[in-house]
Amino acid sequence: MFSSAVSPRTRSTVRRMVRCVAAVGCLATLMAVIGCPQPAQQPHDGRPKKFRIGMSQCNLGEPWRVQMNADIKAAAAAHAELIEVIFKDAQNDTLTQQRHVEEFISDRVDLIIISPKEAMPLTEPVGRAIDAGIPVIVLDRAIVGDKYTCFIGANNKQIGRAAGQWLARRFPPPQEVKIVELKGLMTSTPGQDRHSGFREAIRDDPRLQVIFEAEMNWLGPNAKKEMESALARFERIDAVYAHNDPGAYGAYLAAQAAGREKQMVFIGIDALPHEGQAYVRQGILDATFEYPTGGKEAIETALKILNKQEVPKKIELRSRLFTKENIAQGGQLLE
Ligand code: FRU
Repeated sequence: MFSSAVSPRTRSTVRRMVRCVAAVGCLATLMAVIGCPQPAQQPHDGRPKKFRIGMSQCNLGEPWRVQMNADIKAAAAAHAELIEVIFKDAQNDTLTQQRHVEEFISDRVDLIIISPKEAMPLTEPVGRAIDAGIPVIVLDRAIVGDKYTCFIGANNKQIGRAAGQWLARRFPPPQEVKIVELKGLMTSTPGQDRHSGFREAIRDDPRLQVIFEAEMNWLGPNAKKEMESALARFERIDAVYAHNDPGAYGAYLAAQAAGREKQMVFIGIDALPHEGQAYVRQGILDATFEYPTGGKEAIETALKILNKQEVPKKIELRSRLFTKENIAQGGQLLE
């Protein structure tokens, strides 16, 4: 290996260096084989470099979104040596959320998770992240087209349909059902799908009629105001279908103030243990459908993507129906 011109001391130093390089190489190979993802940029300062995940949350005004962030945080904490999540809250402002995505792109984060306020306006910023080589996980509300890495969410159309079917069962023929529908933001996909699924389910049953519908943009106080209008206009209301639990609770408060809450049933969506499920236990809501936040699944998927593993384009989360009859058994899975 060495010519005789090289001194024995130099030879042994070089041998030691070769062994050392080989050991480091083996370790890196081992890490790759056992599937440990490694951050794109390696450290220069000796501190271990983590993957940086940018999480763009559309707002934290509702308990469900606070829960989503908490689920992400908890899942990420289990991999604290590997990932760091940077949270941004757009406070329900589309322009702010667009800016947040741009900031994540210029910060060169390793991956973006986004729960977009509205489909259309967030489509382009997400596309720019993909163009910049940053994978994007879209959570709960979708964007337009398929320029993203993975979508994770429950089936809102199925939930809407199940709400309509539940109502039809709750009021067997020949009863008529006068319905108030309080809709979420209709420029978001859950609003659109919860509406169209519901209408599809009741379309062929003339007993079920929507007599009043309004957008409450996911917010309890808006739902309360809209319900006050409905109560003022209609002497008879049998059911309220609200696109989320804050909306259903707002409607309940309006009916209660008018002394009419016992004359109708209230259906919501989200079913957080400390919100919708608690309302069902208290007899405020008659039914609520679980809408899983997907926070844990987003982190699991992010780790796979960062590890260069294949992930499906869409991960569909299961929902459950909660009523007073089944809540003690943990609800009933939607089929
Ligand atoms: C919170 C929320 C939830 C709802 C979800 C739909 O902002 O309105 O109540 O289920 O968003 O995206």
